[in-house]
Amino acid sequence: YSDNSFDSTLISWYLKHKRDLPWRETTDPYKIWLSEIILQQTRVQQGLPYYERFVAQYPTVKDFAAAPQDEILRLWQGLGYYSRARNMHTTANHIVDELGGTFPTSYKELLKLKGVGKYTAAAIASFAFKEKVASVDGNVYRVLSRVFGMADDIASPKGQQAFSELANSLISEEHPDLFNQALMEFGAIQCTPANPNCMFCPFAQECVARSNGEQSSFPVKTKK
Ligand code: ADE
Repeated sequence: YSDNSFDSTLISWYLKHKRDLPWRETTDPYKIWLSEIILQQTRVQQGLPYYERFVAQYPTVKDFAAAPQDEILRLWQGLGYYSRARNMHTTANHIVDELGGTFPTSYKELLKLKGVGKYTAAAIASFAFKEKVASVDGNVYRVLSRVFGMADDIASPKGQQAFSELANSLISEEHPDLFNQALMEFGAIQCTPANPNCMFCPFAQECVARSNGEQSSFPVKTKK
């Protein structure tokens, strides 16, 4: 991909195959934050109705901050990992009390929020503000490791850094938001952990893992 056609091939695939998901229709950083925190340990189909209920109940970060925590936890019921909801409440109050009710607008500033790691900060920065920063989750490790034959260990910070650098070298100049959505979606519905759809894959010709029949060996992850 010396001409960096990876990004345009990926985005073309995405526009044709993507699922219509409500958080993809907004550039409101509050709603993107809400969706990304919900989706951290929850499947899309399970998270969807929760996202809809939270947005309906709390249309803005101010509404979310003002809500009693037990009400938020009740709405969260069934999602598990309740620290996510408590962190969100703390963060919403921080945004209202210290930041004038406005979400930070850069990756660097978003990273300072409680409960917001590199992945979530990059997702919000790119989807809401079109910042050119790659959001790298488990789907992305799988896709990049297979296509490029990257054998770096995703359990190590050094390995994670290598994937992050690769993703940032591939990210689309014009559409970093679409690129990030597309890479995640590609991992979720095309380059799946088991039985990836290599038969109809736009990267089949170049995919290192496929050429060796080693799809199931990627990504490399050492047990700790
Ligand atoms: N999982 C995490 N973030 C996602 C997103 N933006 N779209 C679909 N699945 C996701």
